[in-house]
Amino acid sequence: MTPEKSGLSQSLLEESLAPSSVRYFDTIGSTNDEAMDWLMQGAATGSLVIANQQTKGRGRLGRTWITPPGAALALSIILHPPVVYMHRLVWVGALAVADVCNSVLINITPIPQVGVKYPNDVQIEQRKVSGILTEAAWQESKLLGVVLGIGVNLNVEFPPELQTTATNLSAFAPDLPNAPTLYQQLVIRILHWNERLASDELFNAWKSRLTTLGQRVKVNELTGVATDVTQDGYLLLKTDDGTIHRIIVGDVLLL
Ligand code: BTN
Repeated sequence: MTPEKSGLSQSLLEESLAPSSVRYFDTIGSTNDEAMDWLMQGAATGSLVIANQQTKGRGRLGRTWITPPGAALALSIILHPPVVYMHRLVWVGALAVADVCNSVLINITPIPQVGVKYPNDVQIEQRKVSGILTEAAWQESKLLGVVLGIGVNLNVEFPPELQTTATNLSAFAPDLPNAPTLYQQLVIRILHWNERLASDELFNAWKSRLTTLGQRVKVNELTGVATDVTQDGYLLLKTDDGTIHRIIVGDVLLL
């Protein structure tokens, strides 16, 4: 899709997303890489990198993230959290995406279920519609800032291996708002939750949207029931021998 058809342009995004500074690219390798360079040059909180297409989009655990032209949102936002709360930025991203999905789906009957799969995959009807990748910049032990990267599938043609696990927002809401409006809503919700970074409200909102809790799962070679999450972001997994394991990374597979 051309930039005109996607509805994106530097000037339109600047207008929609003011007062944030925006760098818009029709094509880029990864918005997170551009945002990381900008962060290192001293970019302010809320600075945004947006692309119509990514050719080297990155996901968690070294995976590739697909952003075909005009088919998805690809945004990286620069934030400066206190170091003790930096792990919470993935909650900020997940909640912001979930809020936008819910507002887009509000008039659909029955309302599709929007949830978060631990730690931060936003799903609609148990299929992944969005992924989040945070990357931090350090100077020795000082946190310089964090890039919160968010991809949202709008109308992506998935390769065969993703067809049963991934989905698009347009599959549930055929009349989507245009991309500048979706970016605007997303940034408003990111900044809303980022202002609440230290709050129980943020933790409780993330926890309440987690569809993983109560499920039997496999994670990091351990199998058990996901019983709870902690304020510092751990998943508590109860294995069959009754042991509670605190788990922070890895892929959670529903069994
Ligand atoms: C994942 O689920 O593995 C995380 C995917 C994160 C993708 C986004 S798209 C915008 C930003 N730029 C990237 O290269 N990755 C993130």
